[in-house]
Amino acid sequence: MATAATPAWAPSEVLHEGAEATVTAGFWMNKPSVLKLRRPRGYRHPDLDRMLTRQRMSVEARVLGRLQLIDFPSPSLHDLDIEGGWMVLSRLDGRPLCDALRDGSAGLDEVRSTGALIRRLHEAGFSHGDMTTHNILVDGSRCLSLIDFGLARISPELEHMGLDLQVLNECLTASHSEIGGAVEAMVEGYLEGGDGEFGAKEVVSRFEDIRGRVRYHG
Ligand SMILES: Nc1ncnc2c1ncn2[C@@H]1O[C@H](COP(=O)(O)OP(=O)(O)OP(=O)(O)O)[C@@H](O)[C@H]1O
Ligand SMILES: [Mg+2]
Repeated sequence: MATAATPAWAPSEVLHEGAEATVTAGFWMNKPSVLKLRRPRGYRHPDLDRMLTRQRMSVEARVLGRLQLIDFPSPSLHDLDIEGGWMVLSRLDGRPLCDALRDGSAGLDEVRSTGALIRRLHEAGFSHGDMTTHNILVDGSRCLSLIDFGLARISPELEHMGLDLQVLNECLTASHSEIGGAVEAMVEGYLEGGDGEFGAKEVVSRFEDIRGRVRYHG
């Protein structure tokens, strides 16, 4: 049980009870934090499940550590126990972008900023792997941060970066279809500041290829 193994942890409320993880808010050494506890998936073989949990937690920890070094808006890692399947992260202000888009407190500006933030992530040498509006937090000053890096890649291929844009595109068209021009705003944000050394235009054109493939064969 994570709480017994982590005496520095004082839980307050459960924030999220998902299929893969339970996220509880609380205090870690008196700092506002969250405990993310991965739960076994019943339908998977226990060995495969343990392997996937370890893999996802270790990539998440490595990516978060590196993102802190470049001041990328994402949680900092306070502690983790890979065998126990838990990690403690700093608690970020804000709520998921999907909720803010739904109630109209966020709109095209935030979508454009999300495009720019994804570009910054890619330019730093990472892809996210699950770029939905659930994994983007927006705070009261409309600042954005990214969470949930268990499917991220370090030194991603063009395809992985194109897929980040495609996953967000699917999410925007499926869950937020009322916001006209959202996909264009995402791409606009991504291309802000020119092409860059890593080739932002190439990523966008891969995204367009993927989108075409999904449209005609998906
Ligand atoms: N550092 C954090 N600060 C504030 N809230 C957080 C933080 N990390 C996670 N949350 C909240 O918990 C939710 C789930 O976290 P996360 O996305 O990391 O888990 P998950 O892997 O998606 O879980 P599942 O796949 O089981 O749904 C987030 O959408 C967010 O609302
Ligand atoms: Mg998530």
